[in-house]
Amino acid sequence: MRHSNTRLEHTPREGRSVQAFAPGRVNLIGEHTDYNDGLCLPFAVERGITVTAEPASGAAIEAHAEDLGERDSFELGAESGAGEGWRRFVRGAAAELQREGIELRGCRLTISGDIPLGAGLSSSAAVCVALCLALCEIAEASPPGRIPLARLCSRVENDWTGAQTGLLDPLASLCGERGQAVRIDMRGPELRPVPLDLRGHLLAVLDSGASHDLSADSGYNERREECRAACRALGIDSLRDATSEAGLPDPLDRRVRHVISENERVDATVAALERGDLDEVGALLDASHRSLRDDYEVSVPEVERAVETCRQAGALGARIMGGGFGGSVLALFPPGAQLPPGAVRVEPGPAARLL
Ligand code: GLA
Repeated sequence: MRHSNTRLEHTPREGRSVQAFAPGRVNLIGEHTDYNDGLCLPFAVERGITVTAEPASGAAIEAHAEDLGERDSFELGAESGAGEGWRRFVRGAAAELQREGIELRGCRLTISGDIPLGAGLSSSAAVCVALCLALCEIAEASPPGRIPLARLCSRVENDWTGAQTGLLDPLASLCGERGQAVRIDMRGPELRPVPLDLRGHLLAVLDSGASHDLSADSGYNERREECRAACRALGIDSLRDATSEAGLPDPLDRRVRHVISENERVDATVAALERGDLDEVGALLDASHRSLRDDYEVSVPEVERAVETCRQAGALGARIMGGGFGGSVLALFPPGAQLPPGAVRVEPGPAARLL
């Protein structure tokens, strides 16, 4: 992929502070497929997380989460142990970068953002990506390439916060492009930009108000375990290779049906976008929502209300987005539509970068 407009690589600059920005993401379609080696169609949004790093003497990292008014500090090489919530991202990013052989330096970090937390726009991947870029830049070290860096961020979430999230969010943050969605085939992974020409239609997200939770004992991790159980029952390594749910016990059969049909909907959406058939894109969003609600069972009443609000406002399609159990709804509105109160228009913006 081309990333001519974004800079990840370190360029030397003595003793000055540095800034990195990483966007959140919207996933147009392809939900709960990333950890099943499947297909997704996300785009990076304009909003995200900014991390400023200032040089400091010694080997301590001092971090300030500006929006939360909270602080943390630790010595490099002693990241484990204490740390809750956002602190785990800072400690995990520092530890995983060092594990890759990157020599970090003591610094002061300030984290701030204009993306809602817990709303399903992947603020956590954005925090992680922005932290990694800032930590490398202040240490005058080159960060890993985009795909290895996405894997590293995923390890931070998996091993340091207990959320078994996949590569969708960090890849979208690191590889988005203005005006484009990205078709990601998680086998590889292989990425291909798909122009998001909406012909005057609008995409918007509406926060359901129910904060989603992907932590260790969440429904999200339970779904992942169900997918592994289905693989064992089918004698395959990945649900990407599943061709039918026949013969599986409930609810595993419905989980597999979702994954098979959602992969198909991703390519149907790419084809509909290429033909400029936005009505069909709306119908596919609705079909994805039904599948996530009935087969994958990741919806909650607040989300159903938000979907209904979007439909009442004339949406051509609306669906739960991200890990589920709360968070935001994504809806496609026809040209000239009046968005419902609280809905925020989203457009594809550029990837994570140094500022
Ligand atoms: C969350 C995870 C992603 C992905 C989605 C569901 O956003 O972070 O890895 O699994 O849920 O598609």
